[in-house]
Amino acid sequence: MPDVAKDPLKIDRPLVLIGLMGAGKSTVGRRLANRLKVRFTDSDDEIETAAYCSIADIFEKYGEIEFRALEQRVMNRLLAEGPLVLATGGGVFLNDEIRTRILASGTVIWLKAGLDVLAARTALRGGRPLLETGDPRATLEKLINERYPVYGEAHIIIDTDAETLDSTVDKIVEALTHHYTTSGTRP
Ligand code: S3P
Repeated sequence: MPDVAKDPLKIDRPLVLIGLMGAGKSTVGRRLANRLKVRFTDSDDEIETAAYCSIADIFEKYGEIEFRALEQRVMNRLLAEGPLVLATGGGVFLNDEIRTRILASGTVIWLKAGLDVLAARTALRGGRPLLETGDPRATLEKLINERYPVYGEAHIIIDTDAETLDSTVDKIVEALTHHYTTSGTRP
């Protein structure tokens, strides 16, 4: 077993960030990747590149079912790419097949945030078709009720409500160190 104090954290598998829209997966993910000196990618960006189309346009032109199929293909590819930080769209972890694969081949980190924080953050940026409902706060509340029990299967859960970006990254690194040591999965 490596000595965590002497041996800096090395990543040998994808670190998969999950959480609802507005949880900060991409922003935190970029900083985390920078800290750990691994590549960062975002499943939504990869989908847009593969489809030559924005997420909003994919939903509008082809519908959610086609979006989810694309999401699954992109995730299967990214999960085979070894060590990286991977921010995922909020629905990725709800797909049974992808969830099983992510839990087996990656380390899953749920960035957990409360309704007020999510509502405030998602109001800052559009392009999220699921929130075009006329009452995005109520939609987020419904998604929290539906999804949080499933997100709870993550290996690591980080409460982000009272944290800054930097302290969230610190907490993740700390939790990863602990996780790798206690689960015996550390390289
Ligand atoms: C979705 C979340 C979005 C995007 C799509 C669907 C979801 O990503 O994948 O609009 O089902 O929660 P973000 O969580 O990055 O906003």
